[in-house]
Amino acid sequence: MILPINFPESIDAKIFVRDYWQQKPLFIKNALPDFTDPLTAEELAGLACEEGIASRLILERGDSPWQVRHGPFNEKDFTSLPESHYTFLVQDLNRYIPELNQLLDSFNFLPAWRIDDVMVSYAAPHGTVGPHTDQYDVFLLQGLGTRRWQINTQADARNEKLIPDLDLRILAEFAAEEEFFMQAGDMLYLPPGVQHHGISDAACMTYSVGFRAATQLELLGDYIDQRTLHSCDEVRFRDGGIEADTHNGEIKPAARQRVRDMIKQIPGSDAEIDDWFGRFITYTGIHLNTGIPLTPTGEAAVFVSTLQTQGPLLRDSQSRFAYIEMSQGLQLYIDGESLPVPASLAELVRLLCDCRQYDEAMLSPYLQRPEHLGLLCAWWETGLVYFDD
Ligand code: SIN
Ligand code: CO
Repeated sequence: MILPINFPESIDAKIFVRDYWQQKPLFIKNALPDFTDPLTAEELAGLACEEGIASRLILERGDSPWQVRHGPFNEKDFTSLPESHYTFLVQDLNRYIPELNQLLDSFNFLPAWRIDDVMVSYAAPHGTVGPHTDQYDVFLLQGLGTRRWQINTQADARNEKLIPDLDLRILAEFAAEEEFFMQAGDMLYLPPGVQHHGISDAACMTYSVGFRAATQLELLGDYIDQRTLHSCDEVRFRDGGIEADTHNGEIKPAARQRVRDMIKQIPGSDAEIDDWFGRFITYTGIHLNTGIPLTPTGEAAVFVSTLQTQGPLLRDSQSRFAYIEMSQGLQLYIDGESLPVPASLAELVRLLCDCRQYDEAMLSPYLQRPEHLGLLCAWWETGLVYFDD
């Protein structure tokens, strides 16, 4: 079931995107009135003990001030904790907790490919990770307990002073400009660069829905790595037409200009850059053995009867999906792989990429044509979609 965000009166998703997204914070009282914590603090601690799941423990008064420890942890790490002033945080939990994957549906009015993860934190009484800024958009959703968030939108992010010699980026100076008292279901949206400081009253859990925003250099770095791997016709430095000269140690202006031009004129057509970006933004490290499947190997009738008896169909929370509209059909991206999809399948693929769960009514228009049913069945067989049993 999708929980729509209960925006304040006079704001809806359209107005939020126009007036707040990437611009200014918004406190949304009772944003998700029906939200209940899908996991307990003990279960969160259990996940922080698992190999392959990124977790951190931040102790304000540990062996040193603001001590950071990285997981995976063991049971003893948790039984030896103080009564207060610590937080533990576990990342990527939308991949492991179906309710947190479904929580992402509440943000369906924003580009899904921008979503990074749902991070869950547990803060003991007076727990905080310190005042800081993040360089991405984040929605902070309050679960268990209560927390006071203070923010400052005026401070200049480029001149912020950090406490030196810490493994954490904590602001040396922070002046609260606004304060919000958060209870279960309340949400605070923060665009990048807003200073914020959350201190728990009673023990509390916070769900951070973060949106990725790669830097120009990260994008360029990956683009160039991929081109280097796959291209053999790169332009090389040339200096025909120079004059003989005894100052052979000097890097002459013409050579410098040539190098500047090579750096500034990154090769690639618009279509090549778009295709690289689709792969880059959906890359997960998951390898689809058979590529993106379009035709099934098994019995489509079994898929239909399972949908009718065990629906809804759910999309795999480990994989990333996106598409680019083309003049004919679309280009589909899953987990860093790319596939052209013909116009006849485009509507179904759009639905599969735009939503995370599909009931029988949503899929019934696609159960009649063998081509559509074949695609659904093929995705089910490869585990890109599944039935919750
Ligand atoms: C937290 O959950 O304690 C920190 C979340 C954040 O500041 O982004
Ligand atoms: Co933050």
